[in-house]
Amino acid sequence: MKILVTGGAGFIGSSFVRMAVRERWAERIINLDKLTYAGNLDNLRDIGQTARYNFVHADIADTEAVEGIFASEAPDAVIHFAAESHVDRSIHSPAPAIHTNLNGTFTLLEAARKYKVARFVHISTDEVYGSIDPPDEADETYPLRASSPYSASKAGSDLLALSYYTTYKLNVSVTRASNNYGPYQFPEKLIPLMISNALEDKPLPVYGDGQQVRDWLYVEDHCRAIRAVLEKGASGEIYNIGGNCSLPNLEVIRRILKLTGKPETLVTRVADRPGHDRRYALTNQKLNRIIGWEPLMSFDQGLEVTIDWYRENHEWIERVKSGEYRLFYELNYAQRG
Ligand code: NAD
Ligand code: TYD
Repeated sequence: MKILVTGGAGFIGSSFVRMAVRERWAERIINLDKLTYAGNLDNLRDIGQTARYNFVHADIADTEAVEGIFASEAPDAVIHFAAESHVDRSIHSPAPAIHTNLNGTFTLLEAARKYKVARFVHISTDEVYGSIDPPDEADETYPLRASSPYSASKAGSDLLALSYYTTYKLNVSVTRASNNYGPYQFPEKLIPLMISNALEDKPLPVYGDGQQVRDWLYVEDHCRAIRAVLEKGASGEIYNIGGNCSLPNLEVIRRILKLTGKPETLVTRVADRPGHDRRYALTNQKLNRIIGWEPLMSFDQGLEVTIDWYRENHEWIERVKSGEYRLFYELNYAQRG
C-alpha cells in the first residue's frame, strides 16, 4: 500500500512513519509536511535513506502542491495528521489553526475525492467532546462541545471529513485519541515541557489548581491503533483511542519529579488557561470490540522511557527550543504571571 502521510515530521506522524518504515508494511510512504515550528526532519533521522520513503515540503492548504502529489504518487491511502495541535497557541493566535485544521483538511479531502483515493483516515482528538463531568465517558456518539479554537477547528474538520463519506462515499474513518506522550514530542505540551524544565531545574508551571484530568496514551500505542483503523476500520465511522489512564495534571507532574529526582519546590502555580477543559474521558470499547485493539504501555513504564529519551537527547531539545519556541514560551508564561 502507498500511503500519503501529512504532518509526518511532527510528534505522532513521525512515530507512525518510523513504525511503517521499520516494520516494512507500507510499500511506500510520502510525507507531506510544511515544517512549521513543530515539524522537524530530525525526528525521522533514524529511518535513513530508503526508496520506500519520500518527503515533500508543502502546505496541505496549497491545492496545486497537494494535487501534484496525488497525480505523481497516486497514493492508495491518506493518513492525515497535519495540524496546528497546541491549545495555548490557538488561544494566542487562532488563525493558523483555522488555516491548517479547516482549510488544509478541506484541500486534502477535495484532492482525495478528485483522485479517487481508496482510503482516508482523519486523525482527531478527544478534545472535540469538550469537558466531561465524572463519571461520564465519551463514546463516539457523545455530543461535540469543543472549547478552544484548536478543538473547535478539529471538530469542524471531523464533520467535514465525515461529510465526504456521507455525500461522496469517500472511504473516510475518523480517529479521536486522548493526550499522547512519548519521545520527540515538542516541549510545549504538558509532559515534555515538565520533563525538559525539570531536567534543567526550571519552574514547572501548573495552570490553575492542577486538578484538571487528562487520559494519557503512549504514542506507539496510538500509532498501532491508527494502523488497525486504516486496515480494518469502516467507512464513515469514528473510533476513540484512549490510554485507559486518567490522571490529574499535578499527579503526572509529581511522577515526573520522582523519576527525575527533582524537588516538588519546582512546581509553580500560574494563571489558568482561558476556557480550560476540566476533564477529558473517553471509552475505547468500540475499537476494542470491533478491531481488538487495546493500549499496551503502562503509564509508569511509558513515562520512564520518555524521560530517558529526553535525558539522552538534550541536543534535540536545545535545537527545537531555539528562536520561535523561546518567543512563544516567554509570551505564554509572562502573561500567566
Ligand atoms: P505536532 O504539532 O507535533 O505536528 C504537526 C505536524 O504538522 C508538524 O510536522 C507540522 O510541520 C505539520 N503541519 C502543520 N501545519 C501544516 C500545514 N499547513 N501543511 C503541512 N504540514 C503542516 O502534532 P502531533 O501532536 O503530532 O499531532 C498530530 C495529529 O494528532 C493532529 O491532527 C492532532 O490534532 C492529533 N492529536 C494529537 C494529540 C496529542 O496529544 N499530541 C492527541 C490526539 C490527537
Ligand atoms: P496540553 O499538553 O497543552 O494538552 P491539552 O490542553 O491539549 O490537553 O495540556 C495538558 C494539561 O496540562 C492541560 O490541563 C493544561 C495543563 N498544562 C499546565 O498546567 N501547564 C503547562 O505549562 C501546560 C503546557 C499544560
